[in-house]
Amino acid sequence: MRVQGSDAAACHKARKKELTKQSYKKTANTWQSLVGGAMVSAGATMNNFQLIRPNVQYLEEIRDYREESLRDVSSKEDFIYGSAGLHNFENPACWIEHCKLLEKSETLPDNTFVESDAYLFVQGKRILGMINCRRRLDNYFSTIGGHIGFSVRPSERGKGYGSKMLAMALYRYRELGFDKVLVTCVSENIASRKIIIANGGVFESTLLDKSDGSIMERYWINVNVE
Ligand SMILES: CC(C)(COP(=O)(O)OP(=O)(O)OC[C@H]1O[C@@H](n2cnc3c(N)ncnc32)[C@H](O)[C@@H]1OP(=O)(O)O)[C@@H](O)C(=O)NCCC(=O)NCCS
Repeated sequence: MRVQGSDAAACHKARKKELTKQSYKKTANTWQSLVGGAMVSAGATMNNFQLIRPNVQYLEEIRDYREESLRDVSSKEDFIYGSAGLHNFENPACWIEHCKLLEKSETLPDNTFVESDAYLFVQGKRILGMINCRRRLDNYFSTIGGHIGFSVRPSERGKGYGSKMLAMALYRYRELGFDKVLVTCVSENIASRKIIIANGGVFESTLLDKSDGSIMERYWINVNVE
């Protein structure tokens, strides 16, 4: 959506007021309640759902997830959100290697990348979603991109998996010692906004993404809570 000139300013102001109200109303329903209040440590499961690192045991499932996501007719983009660039890799083994390179600053491919942890959100062998957790924000990620990107495979959407997956990722940030994380969404992405708010996202601001004219909503989630 393109919003220009004074329309953009008025739209941002009204949206900010509405969202600030919504976010504070929702803080009681945070990510802890989504995971049943139990600490979910690395590798632990939550009702058979797991966040795991991409690995060769999931080669075929990764290929399948990529194909289904790229076939998605409701998406206008040949891009898979929160997948650490899986759309760029026909060979899942190469993508797994790429994810490993993103874990350490010494092995980042170039300075458009920041250190990040890619996870598969799985139930048994089936990949339901993917989530990418950045450990650092550069100029782009501190404004538009935020810490976290995620997607749920098209055939599994609308079942609450997006909210669960984000809740589990927030525990990972807590384990890493973070106090809060920035999560952003395009203003038209109702499902993404609901997921962020359900996980305790507190609206901060909107920003115009000059690269495509879209309005980005920015939320902070406190992960350092008892
Ligand atoms: C956004 C996305 C991750 C949502 O995942 P999901 O598992 O379908 O979401 P959930 O089932 O947890 O639904 C969360 C809420 O959004 C609502 N919702 C889901 N899809 C919706 C849609 N298309 N339109 C409006 N609301 C929707 C659900 O009803 C639910 O609302 P509730 O909390 O009031 O019950 C998924 O649609 C997706 O992968 N989209 C493409 C990638 C993307 O946009 N990623 C986010 C970018 S940061």
